[in-house]
Amino acid sequence: MYVWPCAVVLAQYLWFHRRSLPGKAVLEIGAGVSLPGIMAAKCGAEVILSDSSELPYCLEICRQSCEMNNLPQVRVIGLTWGHVSQDLLALPPQDIILASDVFFEPEDFEDILTTVYFLMQKNPKVQLWSTYQVRSADWSLEALLYKWDMKCVHIPLESFDADKEDIAESALPGRHTVEMLVISFAKDSL
Ligand SMILES: C[S@@+](CC[C@H](N)C(=O)[O-])C[C@H]1O[C@@H](n2cnc3c(N)ncnc32)[C@H](O)[C@@H]1O
Repeated sequence: MYVWPCAVVLAQYLWFHRRSLPGKAVLEIGAGVSLPGIMAAKCGAEVILSDSSELPYCLEICRQSCEMNNLPQVRVIGLTWGHVSQDLLALPPQDIILASDVFFEPEDFEDILTTVYFLMQKNPKVQLWSTYQVRSADWSLEALLYKWDMKCVHIPLESFDADKEDIAESALPGRHTVEMLVISFAKDSL
């Protein structure tokens, strides 16, 4: 299991916005090694990490990341995109959903957005902060965002010092093309 270039860029975005994080309810989906969620927790957010409930190994990696970073208060739950599980139903309203490099398989895109939509019903102001590695110019979220009543703002990498091959001493971003998106409910006036 790796830390993906997207995770470094999203962690940098969180660091840039660290003053807004204390007390915020933050859920990371498809967390894997969980660098962004760990960063949010270190900045004072109330973080829940999640990965597929069908991949216990990945959930174990999430738990190990919490342990290694001395964050016993961070919960880890199984949350498979597009599945309405007991754990999803029981989640309290979230302020921010983190998603680093989860848009890598077009057939999963709608499942991810349905999970986000479900969380928007609990809090219409919830925002999805997501980094996306451009792997094919043919892939687009636009039609799905329209279908699920969501809007998307592209955040330029230079606006949070992430337009570099090395970020925070990590060479992972390298020459990969990574985009930062903030997705929210289209009818939210904010
Ligand atoms: C490319 S990795 C990104 C991991 C991490 N977010 C990062 O950027 O380092 C994709 C992650 O999505 C998780 N995943 C894959 N399919 C999933 C599904 N159907 N539901 C929930 N998580 C899933 C994988 O277990 C993996 O942790």
